[in-house]
Amino acid sequence: MMSGETTMAGATSGGSAIAQESEVAPGSAVKFKDGGKDAVLIHLDDGNFVAYSAICTHAGCTVAYKNAQLACPCHGSVFDPANGAEVVSGPAQTPLPEIPVEVQNGEVVKA
Ligand code: FES
Repeated sequence: MMSGETTMAGATSGGSAIAQESEVAPGSAVKFKDGGKDAVLIHLDDGNFVAYSAICTHAGCTVAYKNAQLACPCHGSVFDPANGAEVVSGPAQTPLPEIPVEVQNGEVVKA
């Protein structure tokens, strides 16, 4: 239980960690940059981590995590992160691109 404590350093081995597993509670999300572009890491209620591009596939606004969904503020598109970021409501027609991630030693990293 105590083994996953974080320290002040914040240094990670490969520099590829997106977040500490313990920092992202189930049902919450954190933003990160993937290749300089906005992305979002979500800890699903079922315990799995998923990550997606946060750039709306409609016209490129940045989506935000809210109520277990990814919602775009520009024209109201909604995506379902538990289901491959499938479009729940438009105008977007394409799911957000997924970024494969996995948990290694308490850190969420790109797979
Ligand atoms: S840019 Fe996201 S709904 Fe239009």
